[in-house]
Amino acid sequence: MFKPWIREAPSMVLREYGDGVARLDLNESPYTPPSFVIEAAARELERGNRYPDGNMFRRLYEALSSYTGLPRDNIVVGAGGDDLLRAAFTGTVEPGDKVVAPRYSFGMYRVYAKLAGTVFVGVPVEPRGEWWVLDEERLISESKRARLVLLDRPNNPTGSMFLSEKRVEELLEEAKGLVVIDEAYYEFTGSTVAGLVEAHENLVVLRTLSKAFCLAGFRVGYALAHPETAEKLRRLLPPFPTSRPSVAAAIAALENPGYAREVVEKAVAERERLRRMLSEAGAKPYGSHTNFVLVETGIRGVVEKLYWEGVAVRAVPMGDNWFRATVGLPEENHRLVEAFSKLE
Ligand SMILES: Cc1ncc(COP(=O)(O)O)c(C=O)c1O
Repeated sequence: MFKPWIREAPSMVLREYGDGVARLDLNESPYTPPSFVIEAAARELERGNRYPDGNMFRRLYEALSSYTGLPRDNIVVGAGGDDLLRAAFTGTVEPGDKVVAPRYSFGMYRVYAKLAGTVFVGVPVEPRGEWWVLDEERLISESKRARLVLLDRPNNPTGSMFLSEKRVEELLEEAKGLVVIDEAYYEFTGSTVAGLVEAHENLVVLRTLSKAFCLAGFRVGYALAHPETAEKLRRLLPPFPTSRPSVAAAIAALENPGYAREVVEKAVAERERLRRMLSEAGAKPYGSHTNFVLVETGIRGVVEKLYWEGVAVRAVPMGDNWFRATVGLPEENHRLVEAFSKLE
């Protein structure tokens, strides 16, 4: 019934958290959405019998247009970055095609690549001092034979930034297929390649409201692309890509983005404090341009051991003595460091 390669795709099992566990595993914001966002979403609950309509989406597109500085034609809304990524796969690859991304990168790239029956090529990354570096030449040369290239910029799970804007342009010129530059953590860096979409039809820039805007549970993301490309992506999405409360929350958030800037400021200050505390506790935290930190330790099974201490962090493919921790509230970060200090 189903395509045979679907069995080979990793299945995504959601964690059921125990009471009081600090959730530092999914790179969510630890701050709840501001009350004006919650109120805007709540006002839509009693209209839950209606599909979200064109008027709502027009307002969302206008809000995104003034937030990004790009016209509406360049924008596509989806149910989170995940949804738009799936659309990028559906619209481009055939089984057996080559998909290129850094090894390591956001886990869903591999999941979607497997689900589509493609050949996933991971371009090496390696630690150099506090940061990670990508074999950029290799990424560019592999892209000449790939139907789809995915680059999370900044990269998850390393927290490093790969490819300068100039290099991205070079990639766009060399690539045979679509290039997705995933800017899920854009607000934490301010660095973007959105300015290149007009000149490069093969570029899709992905963004999300899940991180700096504190709206992960609402599932809203957007893509920025050349109008022709944006139009194709829109066709690949369902007519009601997300719910009425989510659209209303996103409009309210984007019309008042000041709170997201405060969230970023707090997260960045806290991130550096967390890195210092982890270093003092004997771990090696890498540099980060995001709301998470990649950490190397001398402790095997560190993710499981931290969970038993009430702190959920993310396992990473570098080894079982490594973890990725989201920057949480100050007290959660303390709990993480305290829990880590107890381990042997
Ligand atoms: C690099 C990257 N891209 C995309 C996403 C997906 O974000 P969402 O589907 O919540 O918009 C994430 C989430 O962690 C991410 O780290």
